[in-house]
Amino acid sequence: MIEEILRLKKEKNAVILAHSYQNIEIDEVADFVGDSLYLSQMAAKTSADIIVFAGVYFMAETAKILSPTKKVLLPRLESGCLMADMVNLEQLREFKSKHPNIPTVCYINSTAEVKSECDICCTSSNAVKIVESLGAREVLFAPDTYLGKWVESQLSGIKVITYPGYCPTHLRIKPEDIINQKKKHPQALVLAHPECHQEVIKLADYVGSTTGIMNFAEKSDNKQFIIATELGVIERLERDFKDKEFILVSPNAVCPNMKWNHLEDILNALKYEQYEINVDPEIAKKAIHSIERMLKVSG
Ligand code: 13P
Ligand code: SF4
Repeated sequence: MIEEILRLKKEKNAVILAHSYQNIEIDEVADFVGDSLYLSQMAAKTSADIIVFAGVYFMAETAKILSPTKKVLLPRLESGCLMADMVNLEQLREFKSKHPNIPTVCYINSTAEVKSECDICCTSSNAVKIVESLGAREVLFAPDTYLGKWVESQLSGIKVITYPGYCPTHLRIKPEDIINQKKKHPQALVLAHPECHQEVIKLADYVGSTTGIMNFAEKSDNKQFIIATELGVIERLERDFKDKEFILVSPNAVCPNMKWNHLEDILNALKYEQYEINVDPEIAKKAIHSIERMLKVSG
């Protein structure tokens, strides 16, 4: 199957982008694996004709907005993001109308429609920089309330007013899970994703995106880490850094929507060029501003 995927990839001039929460077998065929920021940068840069996005719907949609002339494929249409689905255009407009004349930042985990109504987009790895770049004393943030609150805690003098969305996978990680694992592994450092609840974040030694967590673990002299994010990150850390020990904070930290794809789905995506993701051109025209502005600020 791997050989067939690699052959089709070459024949069709396709590129495979994979998020670090995907089933690890996907890495065998992926051109780029990483966090949301890295993958959107790669989607904007690629000269391929086809982008196969092994991730969730909003990621493929973002890739299509950034590369409108390319064919963007999502191998399994069931791959949604529960957080992104927590706010639609109408709900965002209502949220904005309650707080007029305040710039709006949307997390990349949002629909194209929502992105089209925001001033700037962000990911977990650049959210602090993006909010700060606005130079405003108050900022609206949607849909992740926990990422928004964490950003606020990192900046002095900026009020972040958050929409009440959240990631169900990260909220399944409880502070007790960290406390229990810390009792068993007192030397371990706790690395957490900012989508976690603030009571979890308070117990963390480092907070960052999926790639941020992986880079921290690689560079640290410590040998043990408690990982408070999705299972895929632990699997990759265990594969790449065999001299270190990684402790999954909770068996519940799995995003079911990130796990639909297997090699067979990637093969079918390439073979039948399915499932093509399109974005309404009017929405895309507005949404691209918030994404490109983010990429510019990110550098
Ligand atoms: P990052 O990959 O940007 O850390 O985001 C995590 C996530 O939840 C993607 O859906
Ligand atoms: Fe969405 Fe959470 Fe899954 Fe990421 S981990 S895709 S935010 S539901």
